[in-house]
Amino acid sequence: MKIRGKLIAILLVLVVLSCYWILARPSVARLVIPDSAAAVEQGEYLISAGGCRSCHEGIDSSGSLSGGLALESEFGTFYAPNITPHTSTGIGGWEADDFLLAMKHGRSPDGSYYFPAFPYRAYAGMTDEDVMNIAAYLLAQPAVESHVPGHDTPLWLSRWMMAGWNLLADLLQPEYEPLATPEQVRGAYLARHLGHCGECHTPRNALGIPDLRQEFAGAPLGDGHVEALDSEALSGWSEEDFAFLLFLGMKPDGEYVGGKMEPVIEHNTSRLTEEDRLALAAFFKR
Ligand code: HEC
Ligand code: HEC
Repeated sequence: MKIRGKLIAILLVLVVLSCYWILARPSVARLVIPDSAAAVEQGEYLISAGGCRSCHEGIDSSGSLSGGLALESEFGTFYAPNITPHTSTGIGGWEADDFLLAMKHGRSPDGSYYFPAFPYRAYAGMTDEDVMNIAAYLLAQPAVESHVPGHDTPLWLSRWMMAGWNLLADLLQPEYEPLATPEQVRGAYLARHLGHCGECHTPRNALGIPDLRQEFAGAPLGDGHVEALDSEALSGWSEEDFAFLLFLGMKPDGEYVGGKMEPVIEHNTSRLTEEDRLALAAFFKR
């Protein structure tokens, strides 16, 4: 009996420890969201470089980030939330640590896990300063009341499972090879983190985790295929060709890209500076 009691006690401790591990809040820097015009302006640029509008732009065509777009995936339909500062239906009242936890750790202010339909694993590599400027921009926008439907996911899928999913993804994360020039480093920051190009251009394993050992090797999408973006696939492209595609959507052979790449060009890459488009080209063509 005594041994059994001890075993039960040990099991209980293990259960409590794993709950703690699953629910513990990651620690983030203590920062204050800036409210200067410069921060808001920088935030607007980062919202473009982050492609946030592709998902969060309101379906009411108000041009605000009031959400509602249905994002279909193998794991159900996710609805992009309202990220205007409306208090009850948006992110009104969010503070610096709420933004850092969401953008860099995939955790909501109540501690629960976001689904990776929100590409937070890509955004995790953003600097804290960039997250703060994004926060400054978002909070400076008009609050729009917009109720977004709940996600339509299979019964077995729960938010807490994302704790394990993230841990697995961390374990599978390879070391990146060092880059040769500051331009490539800037391009990598835009491609891997803000622009989350790998969300579509990198193949995923059965659990939906991008396989970064085959980074940008191309991937299936719906009935089609998303092209590879490596030096081999791009051997016939100059850096200027690549930057031009990101600006206008036209390939070197005169064809236009379509499908899911269109919003990327419209909301993200066409709004970047030419310098940043060339940095992306330098990174992919390296
Ligand atoms: C591929 C689509 C997609 C892109 C791109 C995207 N998001 Fe999201 N975002 C989502 C989805 C889906 C959720 C909800 C996740 C959930 O409920 O688990 C979300 C959640 C959020 C939340 C939490 C909202 C809340 O009410 O808790 C914030 C903040 C956010 N996104 C900001 C951004 C910013 C800023 C960007 C650009 C840098 C961005 N998102 C880009 C799909 C996207
Ligand atoms: C939401 C999914 C998605 C994201 C995110 C995305 N792409 Fe694409 N991309 C596509 C699809 C789909 C195509 C194929 C379009 C077509 O065939 O018309 C494509 C095509 C391309 C092409 C043309 C390739 C070729 O050989 O014809 C380039 C270049 C490209 N993307 C670059 C990028 C870059 C750079 C980023 C990040 C800033 C990015 N993409 C992010 C879906 C995406």
